[in-house]
Amino acid sequence: MSKPRIGIIISTTREGRFGERVARWVAEQAASRTDIETEIVDLRDYPLPFFDYIASPRFVPIDTPEARKWSGKLAELDGYVFVTAEYNHSVSGVIKNALDFVFAESARKPAAFVGYGAVGGARAVEHLRQIVVELSMVPLNRAVHINMEPFMGLIRDGKDFADYPYLAPTVVTMLDELAWYAQTLKTGRELEAQKAAA
Ligand SMILES: Cc1cc2nc3c(=O)[nH]c(=O)nc-3n(C[C@H](O)[C@H](O)[C@H](O)COP(=O)(O)O)c2cc1C
Repeated sequence: MSKPRIGIIISTTREGRFGERVARWVAEQAASRTDIETEIVDLRDYPLPFFDYIASPRFVPIDTPEARKWSGKLAELDGYVFVTAEYNHSVSGVIKNALDFVFAESARKPAAFVGYGAVGGARAVEHLRQIVVELSMVPLNRAVHINMEPFMGLIRDGKDFADYPYLAPTVVTMLDELAWYAQTLKTGRELEAQKAAA
């Protein structure tokens, strides 16, 4: 049985973003695990126009090269870690727009969350949970929240993640839960595909 492949999605694209540093930190901790494989998925590599198509991709897949590249990447993966900032108490526009382009590719796959900001990105994470459940993803409970004190230390005061040792165990807990759901749902999707082929 092959290991689930997890995409660590950087959900912001602006110059000087913090999200990239967070994603690399999560990827470093995932690297030693034997139950999942991870890769960073950077929205900068998947530029998309504002969604402006005839229907939701739930009904009509978006058949443009850039949409196929993005939805194809999500289809390759068995689960996701959304590394998210909070923009005006919600997610960044760029991740909401990117999610509007997909449906079947991410369905029945788990979504875990790493938020950062004044309240640990909690409001953005809650909104993301609501968005991804509409895409038939499975939003998970054990999130990582980098709140005001470590957030300011990391972006302003030259601190490193190692200066906040209580954060790393929350990544382990998040990945443990994600790995279980990724494997369980992968098995379920494979069984269903076998039944359909029989
Ligand atoms: C448009 C905008 C809106 C923001 N709104 C919030 C907010 O509602 N809550 C919060 O904690 N931080 C907010 N911030 C500050 C972000 O937490 C901070 O800029 C963070 O670094 C953004 O993530 P990024 O660097 O990956 O883009 C906002 C930043 C921007 C650019």
